[in-house]
Amino acid sequence: MINRRNLIKNTTITAGALLSGCCGFTNQEKTLSSLSVAFEDQFRFGTSIKNDTLETNDNGLLTLIAKEFNAITADNAMKWEGLQPRLKEFNWHKSDKFVNFGQRNNMQITGHVLVWHKQTPNYVFIKDNKVVSKKLLLQRMEEHISKVMDRYKEVTEWDVVNEAIVGGKWLDSKWYKIIGPDYVRRAFQFARNANPSATLIYNDYGLTNPKKQEAIVDLLSGLKKSGVKIDGVGMQSHFSLEKDFPSVDMIEQTIERFARQGYQVFITELDVDVLPRAWKYVRQPPLQQLHISEIPPKEARFLDPYANGLPEHISKELADRYASIFNVFSRQSDNISRVTVWGTLDTESWKHDWPILGRTNYPLLFDKRGNPKKAYFSVLGEGNN
Ligand code: XIL
Repeated sequence: MINRRNLIKNTTITAGALLSGCCGFTNQEKTLSSLSVAFEDQFRFGTSIKNDTLETNDNGLLTLIAKEFNAITADNAMKWEGLQPRLKEFNWHKSDKFVNFGQRNNMQITGHVLVWHKQTPNYVFIKDNKVVSKKLLLQRMEEHISKVMDRYKEVTEWDVVNEAIVGGKWLDSKWYKIIGPDYVRRAFQFARNANPSATLIYNDYGLTNPKKQEAIVDLLSGLKKSGVKIDGVGMQSHFSLEKDFPSVDMIEQTIERFARQGYQVFITELDVDVLPRAWKYVRQPPLQQLHISEIPPKEARFLDPYANGLPEHISKELADRYASIFNVFSRQSDNISRVTVWGTLDTESWKHDWPILGRTNYPLLFDKRGNPKKAYFSVLGEGNN
């Protein structure tokens, strides 16, 4: 009997230099299937796109993205600092390119992100050298949300608020300090008014953490009681190779819990960090990140072990970890609307510079040349079960 997994493996053919562009893409292995096709009965399969990829019109990468994915998120183009770098001066250049690419390729487009404490210029919180009033900050928030959502009606899903909770408590951001906890409710209200039919998402990391999960469930049920409708919960899903960080059971229980509460679940920024934990080197607030070159050599070698390439056994471990994660996603596909990986090529990942700067990481499904990694095939295999 032909097993579907082998069928996929066997349909992999090698077609040299199919793609050209930023990375050379020689010896590109062309797969007859694709991630979005393999999961088309289950959920949309997305990726994030960098400004540079569109700016330089990197054809190799854009062709790969169009073939593999049916959903896109901008990794930076639609953040506040990108869209409204100065008060009331909107810059649509990058976001237009991003949205046009999605439309040309018939993709579902996610707007990321309307209200966040990061990548939001300081001017937002200041007037005449003083901290803005609550009233003025709410006006600025409303204007930003309505201008951006009005312009992009074809963007049907929005990460409205990102990362409001840390541990079990409110993050003490400027939004929170100036407006108070009500800022989340107001952001969702403004977004709902701007586009009543859009899917509105609360997005955050670490939702498998019990304290954080509890706080977010509370926050969302409070909003529901006050009459504000939130459609989805975005689990960023910046996972690690370590099997218990988080465990697949925790991932599955988290998806089930939010689904039981009546939310669509979105896996919004999936990647799997292969490097040792390095949180102890981050000082915040305010955020201070060390560069790997500032760390004593012995420790640095431990923290950045694969600068010259990923050993075969780790590549296999990564493939197994991805398979077990997608095994959960497949089982939970009734509750999941979309799975988005945070970047296509390993070289695009933010994880080279987080939590410390300048390491070499391999968290995604394609290598720097655009060749599918072992992890790609293990994911594909889960889709066709
Ligand atoms: C990251 C981008 O990928 C980087 O290019 C940028 O320098 C920093 O932000 N959570 C989020 C994303 O919601 O917006 C972040 O994206 C990664 C963490």
